[in-house]
Amino acid sequence: MKVFVTRILPAAAIALLEAAGLEVTQWTEKRKLTQEEMIAHCKDADALLSAGQLINKEFLLASKHLKVIALHSVGYDNVDIDTATALKIPVGNTPGVLSDSTADTAFLLMLATSRNAFYMHQRILNGEWGFFEPTANLGIELHGSTLGIYGLGKIGLEMAKRCVGAYHMKIIYHNRSRNEDAEKELNATYVSFEELLQQSDVLSVHTALTPETEGKFNMDAFKQMKETAIFVNTARGSIHNEADLTEALEQKLIWGAGLDVTNPEPMSPQNPLLKMANVCVLPHIGSATVGTRNAMARIAADNIIAGLKGEKLPHVVNPEIYS
Ligand code: DGY
Repeated sequence: MKVFVTRILPAAAIALLEAAGLEVTQWTEKRKLTQEEMIAHCKDADALLSAGQLINKEFLLASKHLKVIALHSVGYDNVDIDTATALKIPVGNTPGVLSDSTADTAFLLMLATSRNAFYMHQRILNGEWGFFEPTANLGIELHGSTLGIYGLGKIGLEMAKRCVGAYHMKIIYHNRSRNEDAEKELNATYVSFEELLQQSDVLSVHTALTPETEGKFNMDAFKQMKETAIFVNTARGSIHNEADLTEALEQKLIWGAGLDVTNPEPMSPQNPLLKMANVCVLPHIGSATVGTRNAMARIAADNIIAGLKGEKLPHVVNPEIYS
């Protein structure tokens, strides 16, 4: 049976697929496939292993023969899950294994933003180190401050643990449902969305992108935050409204922002956020460590192998197709 893979993936995952007797074709060009190319490459494939591609209704209707779609990501906001489910195509993702590395990235952005670190580096490159000024280059102290988590799941929990361990931060959170384990483990307090905005010194986003969370952090939200607050987003760029965030930073409604995700991606090099001292932007590298990417690729391969055997995927996002 044949598997089409939309990006070059760690060799270990390809070896797993081949050891299972599957014929693997990888897209090796350093650009996204077009919709037409995706459809054409999947025409005689039995399974699709997809990283970074849109899997919409049109694609699914043209590829309904696929026996399984495995994503090389935990997020599945780029897949029309309802259509996949209606067509009885199982879709797999890679939860758990990227929680540590993504939380590390959130922590890195929080700390870097609190000290204007990326901008300071740029000043050195520009020959602007100057001389020591006791009242210049001042950042925000994190010790004992309040971390607000929007979406306290696996990744948010890891971020919270780091912040408690490093800075004894107080943890508040807002979720659709309460996370009682986190409340016990970290003494975290459930608050309303408004309280989260008003009380957080650092507000870190760890929720999935859904119609409910899209654009959630807009001007109305930024206006309710502290002037000294740092906004961190390592989840999905569309959860914040980028124009509103830019304006909020320009008007000093909040202190700074650390972003691993933007809208669109890639971010334009002309984007005004990149010129701001109190903004740190990374190119969506949340899970980008050797160990994590290998683990994600192995899970994706296991999902493909199970799907092609007609077994339930180890990590399936639409389990209702089995009932
Ligand atoms: C994920 O796994 O969802 C990461 O953001 C990579 O897209």
